[in-house]
Amino acid sequence: IKTIGVMTSGGDCAGLNAVIRAVTTAAVERYGWKVYGIQDGSMGLISRPLRFQELSPANLGNTLREGGTFLGTTNKGDPFNFPMPDGSFKDLSGDFAEGARMLGLDALVVVGGDGSMRILSRLCQQAGLGMVGVPKTIDNDVHGTEYAVGFATSINVVTEALDRLQPTAASHHRVMILEVMGRDAGHIAINAGIAGGADVVLVPEIPYTLDGVAGKIRSVLARGRTHALVVVAEGVKTAEGTNATISHVGGEQRYGGIGHYLTQKIADLTGAETRVTILGHVQRGGTPSTRDRILASAFGTHAVDLVAERRFHHMVGWQNRGVVAVPLEKVTIGACSLDPNDTLVRTARALGMYVGEEPA
Ligand code: F6P
Repeated sequence: IKTIGVMTSGGDCAGLNAVIRAVTTAAVERYGWKVYGIQDGSMGLISRPLRFQELSPANLGNTLREGGTFLGTTNKGDPFNFPMPDGSFKDLSGDFAEGARMLGLDALVVVGGDGSMRILSRLCQQAGLGMVGVPKTIDNDVHGTEYAVGFATSINVVTEALDRLQPTAASHHRVMILEVMGRDAGHIAINAGIAGGADVVLVPEIPYTLDGVAGKIRSVLARGRTHALVVVAEGVKTAEGTNATISHVGGEQRYGGIGHYLTQKIADLTGAETRVTILGHVQRGGTPSTRDRILASAFGTHAVDLVAERRFHHMVGWQNRGVVAVPLEKVTIGACSLDPNDTLVRTARALGMYVGEEPA
């Protein structure tokens, strides 16, 4: 190995820069390799001119502490079937392989979620390029790892939001509905819901009823507390099972459907005054938490070790207090959802929260 690339792919999160820093430092200082930072995910190798920058520990600046990814990222389009401006689709995988050859890459470290990992592993295989993955996503829904980079920071943000919503809810005797990210999985909602003392937590994996939600809120109010907190993951459907997204902006689906839906329904069913907050991309930005910096550093350096050992087609993962290497086939099988019998679901229920219907 002489030259490696590192790229971030898919939605950003806090801690990506810390991974890039760890990869660069370990590759240059420990192994004496050259490191290219590939800009905007796979597009950096597909575009002409190529979009990249040489990285060295000297030019990393304050990246350990900074949110986002200074390399840029993309989650638009599959390079095997890329949408062109004229409406047609083109296979750009050959350009990717040629780009990797032009840079003289021997291996590529991809920091991504499960979707990015799936696409990039195909691209790298076709290009004859060894790949090692590093899991990241605020949703924490990557198989093969207990934690993905970005998750810890995002649940801190959501917990802080609940800490800020509670006093205003109490002052005005309101029910506050907080919609959080989690397209396919309820990990953010259940973790932050527990940490932030929610009364109701709704996740895509567990069916709920409006009677269940309203009943919980009524019982909270009947016991003398005049406010309540509800956390709902964006991927939750309406009680009728339909998609709650209610509007389109510029042809794009707008977030907020389920939060608005519940706000209306809870007001109708309980008579309580309700307000909704959609946290959105606030959950993805900002300074990485201590935990994310540590995870990013452990993952980045171990990913470089895997490259040195030529253990390609693996992802680093966190299991049982340490970093492990997980074969990519075990990772790229879709989102890792919240088990309806998860420890935290049981914890929430033991604390009296409504987390959807319990199995009979
Ligand atoms: O997968 C991470 C995630 O933050 C989801 O929770 C959310 O639905 C999605 O990304 C938003 O992505 P975009 O960057 O396209 O708005």
